[in-house]
Amino acid sequence: MSDPVIEKARRFAESHFAGDGSGHDWWHVHRVWQMAKHLAEVEGADRRIVEIAALLHDVADWKLTNGDESHGLNTIRDLLKDDLSEEEVERICEIISRVSFKGAGVDTPACSLEGQVVQDADRLDALGAVGIARTFAYGGNRGRLIHHPGIPPEKHDSFEAYKKNNGPSTNHFYEKLLLLKDRMNTGTAKKIAEERHLFMEQYLDRFFREWDGHL
Ligand code: ADP
Ligand code: NI
Repeated sequence: MSDPVIEKARRFAESHFAGDGSGHDWWHVHRVWQMAKHLAEVEGADRRIVEIAALLHDVADWKLTNGDESHGLNTIRDLLKDDLSEEEVERICEIISRVSFKGAGVDTPACSLEGQVVQDADRLDALGAVGIARTFAYGGNRGRLIHHPGIPPEKHDSFEAYKKNNGPSTNHFYEKLLLLKDRMNTGTAKKIAEERHLFMEQYLDRFFREWDGHL
């Protein structure tokens, strides 16, 4: 029997993200949910909290809510208030409000083991073959160039600077994606991240050799 709150969160996420073209569609949520379940099991985290937070993790994301994260958090509170205690709802909201990457020089610590697991699962989906696809989908969705040799990547020291950034999609690898393997919280995620990291390095090597006409 499936847990009715998890089923409710799943149904909400499926319809909320169905039409997204920025790499944050329902299947991103689905992958994060599956990975979070796996990490929760291995790491011994509270599986119910992890599953609900994973399913709703992008509802309050600044990239998808025009910067109005509190509106997204209130949507989550409304959705869960009849099924969970206030304390559980706030635990979930706290995890979700801390999940996002906010710039190379900005620390984004998770608040609990459950938060660490959800953050790792979300970050793993930014890496590897799927991560590459999502990066160019996001760039296209926001009208960004694939690459521009005259616009170097920046290491953003503040969330404000990271948010304003409008550079080409290839910069995102150096501004975020290649930094993630050293920022994983759990040992299980670190191992998966290392392999995905290696694949992105190989991809970028080939991308720039083609760009320069060497292949
Ligand atoms: P996070 O909360 O850590 O940002 P998300 O689930 O919201 O994680 O997804 C982030 C993904 O969105 C990135 O890994 C990338 O694929 C895409 N993305 C975000 N910002 C950019 C950007 N500036 N350029 C290209 N892709 C981006
Ligand atoms: Ni996400």
